[in-house]
Amino acid sequence: MSKGKNKKAAASSPTPAKPNGLLSPTHLLLGALFGLLVQLLLGYFGIGVGSYLFQQNSSRVPPLPLDPPPCPAAWPNCPRSVDLHWDDVLELQSSAATTPSRASLAACDAPSLLSPQKVPGMHLLCVLPPPEGEHRRAAATLAAFPDMLRTAKQPSAIIVPPQLRTVAQLISTVYHSLKLTHKGGKYQLPALFNDEGIRIQSVQGALKQRRLLLMEGGQWIWPPVDVGHVHSLPGLIPGQVTKVVTVSLKPLVVSVENFLSPGENEHIIRRAMPHMAKSGVALKDADKGKAAKEFRTSSQYFLPTVGDALLEAVDRRVMMLTRIPISHAEYIQVLKYEYKEHYSAHHDFFDPKAYANNPEMIASIENGAMNRLATVFFYLNNVTAGGQTNFPRAQACITAEYPNGGPQPWDYFDCSKGLSVFPQEGKVIIFYSMLPNGEMDDFSLHGGCDVLAEGEAKWSANFWLWNKPYHFISKARKRATDELEAQYL
Ligand SMILES: *[C@@H]1O[C@H](CO)[C@@H](O)[C@H](O)[C@H]1NC(C)=O
Repeated sequence: MSKGKNKKAAASSPTPAKPNGLLSPTHLLLGALFGLLVQLLLGYFGIGVGSYLFQQNSSRVPPLPLDPPPCPAAWPNCPRSVDLHWDDVLELQSSAATTPSRASLAACDAPSLLSPQKVPGMHLLCVLPPPEGEHRRAAATLAAFPDMLRTAKQPSAIIVPPQLRTVAQLISTVYHSLKLTHKGGKYQLPALFNDEGIRIQSVQGALKQRRLLLMEGGQWIWPPVDVGHVHSLPGLIPGQVTKVVTVSLKPLVVSVENFLSPGENEHIIRRAMPHMAKSGVALKDADKGKAAKEFRTSSQYFLPTVGDALLEAVDRRVMMLTRIPISHAEYIQVLKYEYKEHYSAHHDFFDPKAYANNPEMIASIENGAMNRLATVFFYLNNVTAGGQTNFPRAQACITAEYPNGGPQPWDYFDCSKGLSVFPQEGKVIIFYSMLPNGEMDDFSLHGGCDVLAEGEAKWSANFWLWNKPYHFISKARKRATDELEAQYL
């Protein structure tokens, strides 16, 4: 433990799953060819893929002039659309009376989802009736709480005109009002969800909700609310109410007890046991030449879920818990930490800056736009001492000096700071490596602490979900993803 201490940078990120792991150039080429083929076919049927995301509800739109109306001067980079005059949409915002009534706001109960500090890139929208006397010009009013901030201030009101046809147009209207900007390029498009994490894909579906959540990063993230807050999920496990409990706001960590049954824990351990090998890490440029064991002394195995009904059921449950399609997931990485084994503090995301000399890695993570979003960490057994997951920069160590969370630690093997989550059979935590705005969250730094009970081993597993589809998936994962998509509103 004395050597390799006091590192200036966090240890390298855990290697992604192989062989279905990060896309190689061959995969990328095949993907591009496949994409081209799809484009050609769709082109043949008159469907534009590029505009698909902005045209989701357009099947019955009459033919329109080819030149979209120009963007308003005040909004030079508006998403031009042949059938929408943004001038009208913006004009409505300034002409209508826009203070929502207290009664309508009370019905939304925004405070029960808002947080005492900013949740960057997550915005609550209360769906309220149109302003008084504006029923012809407006379909609804949205009361917006940017970055989930719970303040005494009146929310800003956004008028939704009836001519908006797509969720993308609705989101653009909100973006304009809240002065948000899309990063562009390969960054994910923002998305709307209801307060249960169901993705919204029609304006009609959106306006039927009481509350909407706009996620700039395009994927569902559980609203943190406060430490101790519980989101209840009835029916996730038959006959049970699953409780998603917030244990840290920054980084966002939620905990779920009894997510896995004793039989499932045992099954995962039994299947992985014969394959366990010493863990590797994806070495950052700065760490090249170092041995993985300087950071990580545990053993690991990526456990394929294909053809294993029990694991396929776990896949599906993880998806329904996180509300992230299972097509975004790596295989389960099973971990075994024996007495005094550990993994020093590291991030699960891949920071392109740390891999500048590794062009293949940079390409596969789209220069940071594609990354690990969430880690569902399974605790497969009890450990009588040690073995905790430590988040050294978590909220617990807030001080006047560091009002936003803990400082960069000096000692990446120190487990005494921040938040520690101890192993408990069947429990999982979800922690988010990316913020809802799609940026990497430095505060998600975490490590696996020494197991301190002689003769005991900690069995755990990483279930990594990316912010974008990860690789070609099994039939069961495709089926599960279809099931999630069938819920979209
Ligand atoms: C593991 O610990 C939990 C909480 O302390 C306890 O309820 C459970 O029975 C333990 N499981 C086993 C197999 O000992």
